[in-house]
Amino acid sequence: MDIVNPAIEAYAEEHSAAGPALLAELAEETRRHARARMLSGRHEGRFLKLVLQLCSARHAVEIGTFTGYSALSMAEALPDDGTLVTCDVDPEATAIARRYFARSPHGHKIRLVLAPALETIATLPGPFDAVFIDADKMNYGRYYQAVVDKVRPGGVILVDNTLWSGGVLAPADDETREIDALNKTMASDPRIEMVLLPLRDGVNVARRR
Ligand SMILES: C[S@@+](CC[C@H](N)C(=O)[O-])C[C@H]1O[C@@H](n2cnc3c(N)ncnc32)[C@H](O)[C@@H]1O
Repeated sequence: MDIVNPAIEAYAEEHSAAGPALLAELAEETRRHARARMLSGRHEGRFLKLVLQLCSARHAVEIGTFTGYSALSMAEALPDDGTLVTCDVDPEATAIARRYFARSPHGHKIRLVLAPALETIATLPGPFDAVFIDADKMNYGRYYQAVVDKVRPGGVILVDNTLWSGGVLAPADDETREIDALNKTMASDPRIEMVLLPLRDGVNVARRR
């Protein structure tokens, strides 16, 4: 199911900030990857950058690096001494990410940790200004619970794919049920205020109280 009419989605992307040429090159290379559908892309990447700018983020965490598109998009929003810790377990996709981090004027802000994200998060004391959750869906609830109390008041938690191609309307498998459960948890969690946006495949945007 298309969440948004494809023509509307294309119009919205064309009428949003373009982003740097390096990210366009990375998107082009990622489109040739076997799991290219995991790429967030230009529209969502510009949105992530904007949200991090709006909350004056200095220290951010990403769960799910892949080829580094969203990491580089968010790193652009950080000050020169800001940090983004990005977590993944795939050495092959993240080798692409490392190449682009090395070429970017924002790459020095990024620390890639190759290990299961829950292990990495446990080593990070916080406070975080922003967290982007975009890894294996079966751990979505655990990722959220692992970070929510490490986000400072006024900080943000973003979660990708929360509409799961519309599957959440009638969850029929464990991944979809996990995403639906997290949406329900976040909508009623008194620690945050959350809006589920129908941007691309659904993005939860939450502000820590
Ligand atoms: C949807 S992709 C991330 C896309 C990326 N954020 C972007 O916008 O281009 C999900 C990533 O999560 C990673 N992943 C899967 N299980 C993980 C785990 N337990 N810990 C950390 N990363 C994991 C996968 O290897 C994959 O690269």
